[in-house]
Amino acid sequence: MGKVHVFDHPLIQHKLSMMRNKDTGSKDFRELLEEIAMLMVYEVTRDLPTEEVEVETPICKAKTRMLSGKAIGLVPILRAGLGMVDAVMTLVPNAKVGHIGLYRDPETLQPVPYYCKLPADANERELLVLDPMLATGGSAAAGIQLLKDHGCHHIRLINLIAAPQGVERVQQQHPDVDIYIAAMDEKLNDHAYIVPGLGDAGDRLFGTK
Ligand code: PRP
Ligand code: URA
Repeated sequence: MGKVHVFDHPLIQHKLSMMRNKDTGSKDFRELLEEIAMLMVYEVTRDLPTEEVEVETPICKAKTRMLSGKAIGLVPILRAGLGMVDAVMTLVPNAKVGHIGLYRDPETLQPVPYYCKLPADANERELLVLDPMLATGGSAAAGIQLLKDHGCHHIRLINLIAAPQGVERVQQQHPDVDIYIAAMDEKLNDHAYIVPGLGDAGDRLFGTK
């Protein structure tokens, strides 16, 4: 069973509360999402392997450590996951980015795929799937399945807010995937929006409502 890591760092919780506020506009919402994504990825990458290297400082030669192991790939789920990419790239500038387009049909609540473009070597990378919201879990589970269909196996899911149902679904369908979240909310409402949540992440990011 994949682990669920909840980041309750005070800075993350403070910024997330500001994002939840319905009066927070798109500009601030975007900036806060970037700041939280950066703080989260710092922790998500804590267990990446490193290897000893030799560098020559202005003072002397020294044995220090640098990242080793698999290269990183980022996979934002469109649209809202896009809001996390730049921030993560700031910390992991050599990451390659794949895009998965999925929207949730408002009637059936089923994820509808419309786009998938992955780095050619995605299956050799440690992939971080990015999406602020994990509601029913349909989009995340389908996105992860798409990655597995392309031969990818090292996958971590990073969300800001999750509902218990979404976590359960991803854990059931993808027990090999760890989930990293900033908050586990209470439930879903009748339209499968997270309660209390923050509303529609894509619309708030891009000002489409
Ligand atoms: C939102 C969100 C997730 C999905 C979560 O995207 O960004 O991808 O819903 O819901 P689920 O867990 O029930 O699948 P949405 O479908 O609204 O698309 P958008 O980002 O293009 O607005
Ligand atoms: N998608 C969102 O953007 N918000 C929710 O609460 C649920 C799905």
